[in-house]
Amino acid sequence: MPLPTAGSSGRDGRTGAARIGHQLTEPLLDPGFYAGDPAPHYARLRSEAPVAWHHDPGFWVVSRHADVAAVSRDTDTYCSRRGIMVFEIGTEYESPPTMMHTDPPEHTRYRALAQSGFRPTFVRSLADGVRRRTKELVDRIEPGVAVDVVSELAVPLPLQVISDLLGVPEDEWPRFFRWSEAVIPGATDWPEEERALLGSEMVAYLLAAAADRRRSPTDDIISELAAARLPVSASGTEDGGPSGEPGDGLSDAELAMFLVQLLVAGNETTRNMMSGGLVGFARHPGSWESLRARAATTAPRVTATAVEEMLRWTTPVVSFLRTATRNTELAGHAIAADDPVLMLYASANRDEAVFGDTADRFDPARDPNPHLAFGFGAHFCIGAVLARLEGQVLLEELLRRFGTVDQAGPVVRTGSPVIAGVRSAPLVFGAA
Ligand code: HEM
Repeated sequence: MPLPTAGSSGRDGRTGAARIGHQLTEPLLDPGFYAGDPAPHYARLRSEAPVAWHHDPGFWVVSRHADVAAVSRDTDTYCSRRGIMVFEIGTEYESPPTMMHTDPPEHTRYRALAQSGFRPTFVRSLADGVRRRTKELVDRIEPGVAVDVVSELAVPLPLQVISDLLGVPEDEWPRFFRWSEAVIPGATDWPEEERALLGSEMVAYLLAAAADRRRSPTDDIISELAAARLPVSASGTEDGGPSGEPGDGLSDAELAMFLVQLLVAGNETTRNMMSGGLVGFARHPGSWESLRARAATTAPRVTATAVEEMLRWTTPVVSFLRTATRNTELAGHAIAADDPVLMLYASANRDEAVFGDTADRFDPARDPNPHLAFGFGAHFCIGAVLARLEGQVLLEELLRRFGTVDQAGPVVRTGSPVIAGVRSAPLVFGAA
């Protein structure tokens, strides 16, 4: 099969390589495609059409690890302000809906301000709370009794952790959970008006909480973010520094937008890392037992390594988009200014060129593991420290109690081209 080269990569489908590209990219927007196992299809894309044009809507699909990293790294040539998902193609924003939709130097300002709420020392200070929440949920699981790990662990845990992070009092939880479900696209089938109403109630709540923490700071992330200021050393934009003046902080509206974004960005992703990762163990006989044996001697390092494989294996964010700001070239293909470019993380994370001939195997001992599940470059996931902490504590608590994990019924996946979701996953844990 000839590989596409510059000149044969046309979008009109007249050349053989372009035709194959069209065929192979066609299923990518079909929700049904994601309900099965898309990995063999990604392998064909990488080998036969690694940079291929998808028709209607038109966008490039980039499936190899090196090319995904190259696009993500180059924020000058591939921008985020024109949307990060396929459904946003053609959208013009007056103001960016999230920090993910900004580019340097605006993005550098947001990032500098938001970073204070995600400093590793601050996130690690949450470890005791994360463990307490995890234990409460894991204690309810009985050995030998099938449990849906989606509804019993993966849905409540990230929501509880983020509620704690935001300082939401426990008596507010039921309301808060409804609000957060309402703002996560596709999480519920509630009517649009109801979702919109719940969404505005939540923004009002978060704005009030932000005003409250500005007056009387506590130790939660709202107080951290409300107090964040650009450092005195941050100067202008010419040296690549953030836009804005030293001492500048987030406005109330920016703060509320950012807090909503935390819910959206941090919930479904972490949820699916947990459920998809546990399914990975159940489907690979002996992987749990072997992790358990190794964890008994060097627990933190071993479980941290296993979490990276859960991330690679599940790749909770299937893909994100960029738009070319100028004519350029990618792996021998001419990309025109204004062309949307989809980075297929889920494929990059199975790339044999990086992960060798075990790329398609779930190997919790894989090390090094340069996966792209958290993205790459300037927008690298700001919540990665928190997601890793949650994954690690969950594994530790489950390993402490259970000696085996097996599938106890069919795993149902959600069909989404953006989030690799698991709707239900009945598993059975055996006594230690
Ligand atoms: C397993 C869990 C997670 C995965 C797989 C994940 C994935 C990602 C990816 C791929 C990006 C890159 C966006 C881009 O390049 O356009 C990103 C960015 C981001 N993530 Fe996560 N994420 C996870 C957990 C979290 C958590 C727990 C939070 C917060 C509580 C969070 C907040 C964010 C934010 C705010 C950004 C934007 C960063 C920026 O634009 O600079 N994420 N995430």
